[in-house]
Amino acid sequence: MVITGTVGKVGLIGHPVGHSKSPEIWNDAFENQEIPYIYLPFDVSTGDLGSAVSGLKSLGFRGFNVTIPHKVSVMNFLDEIEEEAVEIGAVNTVINDGGRLIGTNTDGEGYIQSLQSETGLTLAGQHIVLLGAGGAARAVGTALAKAGAAQITIANRTMDKAEALASRLQRWTRTNAILLEQIASPLQDASLLVQTTSVGMSPNKEACPIDPELLHSDLLVSDLIYHPRQTRLLKEAKIRGARVHSGLGMLVHQAALAYQRWIGKDAPIKQMMETLDQSLKNE
Ligand code: ATR
Repeated sequence: MVITGTVGKVGLIGHPVGHSKSPEIWNDAFENQEIPYIYLPFDVSTGDLGSAVSGLKSLGFRGFNVTIPHKVSVMNFLDEIEEEAVEIGAVNTVINDGGRLIGTNTDGEGYIQSLQSETGLTLAGQHIVLLGAGGAARAVGTALAKAGAAQITIANRTMDKAEALASRLQRWTRTNAILLEQIASPLQDASLLVQTTSVGMSPNKEACPIDPELLHSDLLVSDLIYHPRQTRLLKEAKIRGARVHSGLGMLVHQAALAYQRWIGKDAPIKQMMETLDQSLKNE
C-alpha cells in the first residue's frame, strides 16, 4: 500500500510488542478490504504511558489496542470508560472519538463469539471450571458469567486471587474459589473447562496445568493459548474424547470487534484467521 497523508492510523501499545501477531492480522485485513488504514505497534514503557496516549491522540490516531502491562493503568489517561471495561477492570481497545478517548474491552465478548461460532455451545446453564485468576480470567470470566453460566468454579495456584475473582463475578452467577490441586471433584461435574493461565504456552509446550487423567468425555475444553495452536491440555482432552477449542479465535474476534468500532465495517474474520494460522505455522 502507498502511504499518503490521508491514511488512517490505528495501533497497539504494550511492552513488549515484538511478539505480537496483531500488526500482521490487521494490515492484511486492511489490504484485503482496501481500507486506507495502517496498524502500527509501539513499545511503550510504564513511565511513558501518559505521554504516549496523548501523543497518539495528537497524531490523529483513530484508536489503539492496549496490551500487557498497560491494560489497567491506561484507564487513568482516558476520557470515558465503557461498561464492559469497567466490569472487567481493564481496557484493551481505545476509540478516538473526535479527540475524546473512549476505553472499552473486546476480550470477553471476542472470546464468547469465538467459542460459540466454533463449537455451537449454549452458555446458559453451563457448569464451568475456570483455570487461573489473572487479567485474561477476569475478561473471560466476566463474559461467561454475564452470558448465563450456572456456576463458575475458579481454580488458581494462589487462593487470594481466586477468591477476589469469585467475589467479582458473583453479581451475575454462582461462584466459588479453590486451589488448583482441589480441581478433581468440581471437574467431574463440569461441562466446560476454560484454561487462562500461561502454562503450556510456547516454549513450554509439554506443560499441562492439571493432571490429564482428570479430563473426561463430557467436557468441552477451551484453552486461551494460541501458540502452540494445540496445547498439551487440548491434546490430552482430545485423547479422552472431550471436545476442544483453542485460543486462535479469541485473538481474531477481539480484533474484529475493535475493527467494527474504528472502521465501522465488519472485519474479514475468515481471512484474519488464515493470516494468524499461517503466521504461526511459519514460526
Ligand atoms: P494474564 O493477563 O495473561 O491473565 P496474569 O494476570 O499475570 O496474566 O495471570 C496469570 C495467571 O496464570 C494467574 O492465574 C497465575 O496464577 P497466580 O495467580 O497463582 O500467579 C497463573 N499462572 C502463571 N504461571 C503459573 C504456573 N506455573 N502454575 C499455575 N498457574 C500459573
